[in-house]
Amino acid sequence: MRIPTEIIQSLNEQLNRELYAEYFYMAIAGYFFEKELRGFAHFFLRQSQEEKEHAMRLFNYLVEKGVPFTPLPIEAPSKNYASPLGCFEAAYEYEQRVTLTYYNLLKKVREMGEYDVEEFLWWYIREQREEESLMQSWVDQLKLAGEDAAAILLLDQKAGKGEKD
Ligand code: FEO
Repeated sequence: MRIPTEIIQSLNEQLNRELYAEYFYMAIAGYFFEKELRGFAHFFLRQSQEEKEHAMRLFNYLVEKGVPFTPLPIEAPSKNYASPLGCFEAAYEYEQRVTLTYYNLLKKVREMGEYDVEEFLWWYIREQREEESLMQSWVDQLKLAGEDAAAILLLDQKAGKGEKD
């Protein structure tokens, strides 16, 4: 069955949000490399790579459905971040916004009886739960660390080893 144009547009916008997330996390990784916090930098590079995979999953679904690909512009993320905590707060906030966009789309496809798209979207709903939980956990840990440089360095090492992600 063909996907309605309105849903195709929404899926393409989700793809764009995933590509923005890839770029956004790359920008945050750049900030951490500048600060010599290489563990956090590698954490965000891994997240960036995951976001690319999320975009590709959408791309492949659209291709499978015979939808011509329409590229959209990708917004430039900020390169100015106030602190490690500020980076994770920005990432957590973005993930929550993305979750809401998936919820809104899921609601729409249900109302339209687009069950194949609905089934496809559930993967993203579960993924968003994991990503929000991950970012929230780092926000909480960095809040506990506060201004304590030794504690931040310890968290940086932990992030570099892939612990808690
Ligand atoms: Fe793929 Fe973090 O949204």
